[in-house]
Amino acid sequence: MSRIIKMLTENADRAYSHVVSEYEKTGGFCALKKAAVSAPEEIIAEIKKAKLLGRGGAAYPAGSKWEHLLHIPETPKYIVCNADEGEPGTFKDRLIMDLLPLKLLEGIIIAGLVFRADSGHIYVRGEYRKLQRRLLLAIENTRAAGYLGKNIAGSGLDFDIHVISGAGAYVCGENSALLNSTEGKVGRPRIKPPHLAEVGLFLHPTLVNNVESFANIPVIINMGGEVYLQAGHPDSGGSKLICLSGHCKNRNVFEIPLGKITLRDAIYDSELGGGIAGNKKLKFFHLGGQSGPIGGIDQLDTVYSYTDLRKAGLSVGSGAIVVMDESVSIIEYLKGVTEFFIHESCGKCIPCREGNRQLLKILNKLSVPGAATADDLAVMRRLIRTMTDASFCGLGQSAAVALNSAWKLFKTEIEANVRREE
Ligand SMILES: Cc1cc2nc3c(=O)[nH]c(=O)nc-3n(C[C@H](O)[C@H](O)[C@H](O)COP(=O)(O)O)c2cc1C
Ligand code: SF4
Repeated sequence: MSRIIKMLTENADRAYSHVVSEYEKTGGFCALKKAAVSAPEEIIAEIKKAKLLGRGGAAYPAGSKWEHLLHIPETPKYIVCNADEGEPGTFKDRLIMDLLPLKLLEGIIIAGLVFRADSGHIYVRGEYRKLQRRLLLAIENTRAAGYLGKNIAGSGLDFDIHVISGAGAYVCGENSALLNSTEGKVGRPRIKPPHLAEVGLFLHPTLVNNVESFANIPVIINMGGEVYLQAGHPDSGGSKLICLSGHCKNRNVFEIPLGKITLRDAIYDSELGGGIAGNKKLKFFHLGGQSGPIGGIDQLDTVYSYTDLRKAGLSVGSGAIVVMDESVSIIEYLKGVTEFFIHESCGKCIPCREGNRQLLKILNKLSVPGAATADDLAVMRRLIRTMTDASFCGLGQSAAVALNSAWKLFKTEIEANVRREE
């Protein structure tokens, strides 16, 4: 049985990806036409039946998010697509924007129809310049075909989509920082509540979803929520794009059915990761990006689903799976993770801005025999707790997740250099 599924990535084709007539030949814009004549509640009911969990990392149920926004009476409403894709080891949204831009646009326009929204905004990672141009071309073609602009698909709604470029800051993927940046302000997170559904872009009700979440909307409408659910896990329907990188043989994006394969399949199956390169052994894998947990060989038989991974102390996150072989020092790896967070911390709050620096100091000591003491380990524990509990946004709250999970798995290696007091 194939471990790969083609629901979202069906008909992914670079040559014609932005040509509306080609997309229509494969059922493109059928879901949009259906949404144009359906009640918003009917569309949301399908998304709820599908149990689509947000694919940006936080796994919030998309149907509940849409339902909440529908019940907010204030207008105008805005639709925002998070295409910042700043999480290291994550490169799946770029595949959608490159090979399936019209499917992404269709999902955003369906949201526009459901909420009778003012406009849509795609916030694209600054480094994805070429993809920004591809999206602009796809938007132009969609407008020319009458699916954007005035009275889209005869629905009476005027709706257009704008592309906004980020400038290379990881924190701008956090949805409130993303809205600040979209408004032309400094890309720093906002305090919540108020939630973005109530006070979002330009202080108006706003829907923010990830690229993969939006691209799944037409798939759900076309298949029906029930069928979509069946294709995945009973708690979270459909498929997930996973990004394999590091020391596995095949480094690429793969679409897999949720709940139907294990981590071992993902890393070792010849259709997927293909095993470890150079006949080396696996040491650990890092899930969901730098902000996700590290797992070890004892967790390989965990089923790849939101529920099963959570129960095992792991998580899907963005879908990244960074595979590391036996040659990698866990301390050196964690130093790299912490350096990333020092670089990306926006500096607004002390636990994150200073905590990451202090963690790196201790990790540096831990890499030199006899330099670190038991007191350093105690400080490290306190720092992890304080950063997790007291950081202002998700960046600082999750900066020590990798360290915390690795410490449980590789306690002996991490503490090997600690000076033993007489
Ligand atoms: C520091 C930080 C960076 C994030 N980066 C991204 C990102 O690049 N792309 C993304 O979709 N979500 C990112 N998120 C999650 C978003 O805040 C938000 O949960 C997501 O866009 C909601 O969409 P979804 O419900 O469809 O997943 C990030 C969160 C944090 C705290
Ligand atoms: S946790 Fe604080 S310092 Fe770190 S990115 Fe968020 S707001 Fe900025």
